[in-house]
Amino acid sequence: MKQTVGVVGVGALGSIVVKALMNGIDGYELVGVSDVQKPALDIPLLSTNDLIDAVDIIVECLPPREVPALAKAVLDKGKTLILISSSALLLYPEIEEWISASKMGRVIVPSGAISGLDAVSALKESGIESAKIMTTKPPKGLAGAPYVVENNINLDGITEKTCVFSGNAYDAAKAFPANVNVAATLSYAGAGPNNTQVEVWADPDAKGNSHEIEVTGGSSTITTRVDNLPDPSNPKSSMLAGYSIVATLRKLSKNLSVI
Ligand SMILES: NC(=O)c1ccc[n+]([C@@H]2O[C@H](COP(=O)([O-])OP(=O)(O)OC[C@H]3O[C@@H](n4cnc5c(N)ncnc54)[C@H](O)[C@@H]3O)[C@@H](O)[C@H]2O)c1
Repeated sequence: MKQTVGVVGVGALGSIVVKALMNGIDGYELVGVSDVQKPALDIPLLSTNDLIDAVDIIVECLPPREVPALAKAVLDKGKTLILISSSALLLYPEIEEWISASKMGRVIVPSGAISGLDAVSALKESGIESAKIMTTKPPKGLAGAPYVVENNINLDGITEKTCVFSGNAYDAAKAFPANVNVAATLSYAGAGPNNTQVEVWADPDAKGNSHEIEVTGGSSTITTRVDNLPDPSNPKSSMLAGYSIVATLRKLSKNLSVI
């Protein structure tokens, strides 16, 4: 029997997921979407509550500030939430309490815009000694971030690759809430938010967003780097994050999957 799916937020990433489901992913039926704007795609538009009632799985592709209300409603109804705005887990710690309290509900975080989480979670079993992620973006990709505004950082004045922030994943989520989902995701896969170091770099020569991970432990050193071109419909997002949701759905539905 097919599992039913709804997508909440049909912007840059949600559109990738909806198009993939409309083309057909074995094991799933797309019931509809929810968005505050009418999406360009020809698919039933439901209220978020009606959509949650109608499906087994909700795919979240919202701004982080909209995530707590959605997460509470999905978990209260014992459904599955595929969560791409993972920084919300750091910004709104109550979500973890709702996950613990939910009898049937669960939250699945796709790999998003980074690589190597499979190896990081394996290394965690033998102990992680250090975990670090370095995110590099064009300066304008950091515009409007609370840390940039509060510290009067002149992004236009940056003429060479410059480290603008260094701290742990909790501090990074508050400083750059829309930019560091990757740090939140790495921290949950590995060393936890307090022990995951984050550097944010502004590079005027960068064509897109790149994320480098360095995780060390007794048995291994994991180093990965992903260079993502920005999504044309939202330069702050990377298309890879949308495809990681589609890949997650495929893995969950298969009898044989590599995770
Ligand atoms: N995990 C990762 O690696 C990763 C990578 C990129 C982006 N992200 C995150 O994914 C999320 C989605 O990114 P995007 O580029 O698709 O954003 P987007 O701005 O393109 O789309 C957001 C959509 O949500 C809709 N929306 C806003 N409020 C709503 C509400 N209350 N109910 C229903 N719909 C609502 C908007 O109308 C819009 O269509 C963001 O939080 C972003 O930070 C995560």
